[in-house]
Amino acid sequence: MCKFKFWMLAFSTFVALCITLSKGATCKDGDHIGEGDPKSKNKEVDTTNGLSIYFDRSDDKMKFDCCGFVKEWEFYAKSNVGTVHFQVWRPSGSTYTLVGENQYTVTSGNENAEIRISITTAERINVQNGDIIGIYQPVLPIVSYKNEGSNNQYRQTTAAGTTPVGGAFDWSTVTQSTKRKYAIRADVTNGNNPSITNLAATATFTDDTVIGTLIFTLAVSDADSLDPLTTAMTTTSSQFTFDSSTLKVTSTAQLPAGTTPLNFQVTDGCGNTDTGTLTVVVTNIPPVIHNLPYNVNVKEDQTAELELYVINATDSSQYDTVTCSIQSVSPATSIFFTKNSLYGIYLQAFPSLSYDTVNAYVLTIACTDSKDTVTGTFNVYITRNNAPVFTNLQASVNVTASYTTGTSIYTVTSSDAEGDQLYYNMTCSSVTCPFAIYHSGEVRSTDNLQGYTQAGYDLYIYVYDGKTLVGPKTLTIVVTDINTAPTITNLPLASAVSVPENSALGVSVFQLSFSDLDTTDTHVVTATYTPSSGGTIFTMDTTSGLISTSSTTNINYEVLASPSIVVNVHVSDGFASATSSLTITVLDINEAPVFGKTLYHLTGSEGSAGSSVGTPAFDVADPDTGATQTYGIDCPEFNINSNTAAVTLAADYDLDVSGSLSVITCNVSVTDGELTATSALKITLNDVNDNTPAFSQPSYTFYTQSNEAVGTVLGSIAASDADIGAFGTISYTLDQVSLGNEYFGAQSNGDFFVKAGLTSFSNGQTLSITATVTDSAGLSDTATVTIVIPLSTTAATTTTTDRYMTFVDDPRNIAWVCAAIVVLVGIVILMIYQSFRFGDFTRIGNWCQRVSTKPSEPKKPYRMSTYRTQKVRDIPETRYNRHSVNSGWKPWRTGIVEL
Ligand SMILES: *[C@@H]1O[C@H](CO)[C@@H](O)[C@H](O)[C@H]1NC(C)=O
Ligand SMILES: *[C@@H]1O[C@H](CO)[C@@H](O)[C@H](O)[C@H]1NC(C)=O
Ligand SMILES: *[C@@H]1O[C@H](CO)[C@@H](O)[C@H](O)[C@H]1NC(C)=O
Ligand SMILES: *[C@@H]1O[C@H](CO)[C@@H](O)[C@H](O)[C@H]1NC(C)=O
Repeated sequence: MCKFKFWMLAFSTFVALCITLSKGATCKDGDHIGEGDPKSKNKEVDTTNGLSIYFDRSDDKMKFDCCGFVKEWEFYAKSNVGTVHFQVWRPSGSTYTLVGENQYTVTSGNENAEIRISITTAERINVQNGDIIGIYQPVLPIVSYKNEGSNNQYRQTTAAGTTPVGGAFDWSTVTQSTKRKYAIRADVTNGNNPSITNLAATATFTDDTVIGTLIFTLAVSDADSLDPLTTAMTTTSSQFTFDSSTLKVTSTAQLPAGTTPLNFQVTDGCGNTDTGTLTVVVTNIPPVIHNLPYNVNVKEDQTAELELYVINATDSSQYDTVTCSIQSVSPATSIFFTKNSLYGIYLQAFPSLSYDTVNAYVLTIACTDSKDTVTGTFNVYITRNNAPVFTNLQASVNVTASYTTGTSIYTVTSSDAEGDQLYYNMTCSSVTCPFAIYHSGEVRSTDNLQGYTQAGYDLYIYVYDGKTLVGPKTLTIVVTDINTAPTITNLPLASAVSVPENSALGVSVFQLSFSDLDTTDTHVVTATYTPSSGGTIFTMDTTSGLISTSSTTNINYEVLASPSIVVNVHVSDGFASATSSLTITVLDINEAPVFGKTLYHLTGSEGSAGSSVGTPAFDVADPDTGATQTYGIDCPEFNINSNTAAVTLAADYDLDVSGSLSVITCNVSVTDGELTATSALKITLNDVNDNTPAFSQPSYTFYTQSNEAVGTVLGSIAASDADIGAFGTISYTLDQVSLGNEYFGAQSNGDFFVKAGLTSFSNGQTLSITATVTDSAGLSDTATVTIVIPLSTTAATTTTTDRYMTFVDDPRNIAWVCAAIVVLVGIVILMIYQSFRFGDFTRIGNWCQRVSTKPSEPKKPYRMSTYRTQKVRDIPETRYNRHSVNSGWKPWRTGIVEL
């Protein structure tokens, strides 16, 4: 212990030594800094106004070497009058702070003398080791100097004059001068100790003091007013804070209950101290229960959990939390408990209270703020309860169906031992119950009973005294003359009723059966339909209940909204009714396709098998959705496409064939595969110009005389046309341009006649012209007609008898063919001769042309069919063989001229 104290003492001595070394040892009263004898430096005075001087002499003569105060300034005032500021500067690194200054004004008459100024305690400047003396003369320079020695450094400037106490001026910027000593000195003294003037002290507060409250303000003082004091709280605390500038102690947390000492220390510029202790005493304010004692009454038949009371306990300290609990119960029990933050006191469910066993419980309620606890008393008194009692139930009453709304039927009575207000309510055996009970106990009808079908009701009645619900007890109400509702006896059905579409109008579908115990009732049967469109195809007989098809609207399956129609039937006796329903299913029936007309027309043309006649514009309708149509025709001449109804020729059809009809009426049919409809189709076939007119021979030769009479028929060039009718009408034309006049003509029957006199022609001349036959549609054939005017005019006209034989039948043919060739060659020679003779080359040209246009004729095979004779008038030695070629592979016809 002793050793420890020694080391503590040694440590504090060391700390004090450190402080002393930094601020310097305490100045000894009477020591001085500066010139020992200022008047010895009475030599010169500066000449610059507003001059500041700083003495950083290397011999430290102007530097303070202790901590203390300047009590006197002594200087020599030379020549001038005015104010002098005696200053203390504190250099620290490159900063020079003006610590303090004392002013003195040299007045007229006091100049040129050594002046000693005493400074009052309050104005003494605190100096520390290292501080430097300075001078500032705002106007005229006052303090004298003497130039001497080799160093004696100082700095002079007019720029530092305005520096306030506490402010800084950088003396290092001022050039240092030397060899001058100023007549100034400062006498120092040790200072006075600081003190905390209002400690020790005690501050008393309650625990509800708000945070931030001012607890105490310290007062410190020092006789040396300019001594800088530092005050600190040396006790570490999280609940209090100390402001060293205002010296105020404030709370930073809820004040801790009890006594808290806080230590403070004040320190002056030279490290002198004083201490003091503030004692903070905090008293706790206990919580307050505002609403105890209190009494409550509880019925002994209490069964539900019950909140008995809510304790109102508060604490004036907002920082305290109050909790309450049941400290004790007398007699001891656990049926009471507290719940939630409101300190509610509860009675548990089913507490089994009995007035006769315990009629009062005393609860001690304790509330605490965790520092102080207060208690209160809560009394629970148990009260007896008697349930109400019915006095006239069970019961039964008879009523009639004629009762109207509000008729009184019965009055329930009951009693309660406590005389409590009693309340009645009830339930009923039936969902629709035309009765009600009032709090008076009266039971009344709430509707006209006529409309109800139930013979009796049980009313289950309860009475309630505000605590206990008693019941139910039954009140039976018998309606003695109840109307019974009709009953539908044959519905519902196991399956739907089927009705085919297109059923006859007004046929029965279903007969509804119903019965009613009230035999005198009259009944009305009505029906509604789902979908409602069912009402247009079915009707209900409101008297008999017979459902029929509509008497006016046919049932068309295809237009129904739904084929399944629900019929809701409703039988009413005026008061009560029965309802049921059945389903009618409309069956879809296959309906025949229908031709829109009984006769259709179609026009086409004759032609070969398979050629198209046309498609009739049938308008076939089939009511059945999705039905397909297949067409048929019963005429053998035609085929019909079963799908498209396009009509074609079944075989070649040629109206030129005798007996062919141009208009044929057929039966056509259409079938949906099951049902068939027929109509007539009138087909008109138009004739086609399918044949070309043809001459019977390729060429004709006629003989005549140049004096032949006009109108004489020389022969026939009749042609034929296989077409009958208009296309078979033919006409003949002759091309006589080469002759220069129309000498010949052809009759409509083919007769070739002389049309103009031939006298201009000479005997032996042969004429050649082209005949054309044309039918009404312009089809045509041509043949060459040669007219020979022989040399001899005496030759008798020879008329041959026509006879017919085959070419090969006649053995003479071989002979005459050879002879004919000889004759032909002779004719050719003759023609050439005559041409040369008469200079007419056209005949040769015509002949040559004719030969050249039919170059292949002789190469074609012979198909000999007939011989035809020609009248020959001349050239008995000459035989003519003529043949013509028809277009195509028609038979060859050879004409023979017999001699
Ligand atoms: C509790 O009591 C105080 C004082 O009587 C009252 O001001 C306050 O409203 C009460 N609080 C409740 C919750 O009743
Ligand atoms: C109700 O009517 C029944 C039969 O008519 C009868 O027996 C009964 O006594 C009647 N009840 C009352 C309370 O009138
Ligand atoms: C009758 O009244 C009691 C008490 O108010 C209630 O508990 C009960 O549900 C009521 N019963 C009917 C059927 O309204
Ligand atoms: C068309 O049908 C009718 C009626 O069946 C019949 O009398 C008539 O002969 C038929 N016509 C033909 C061309 O088959």
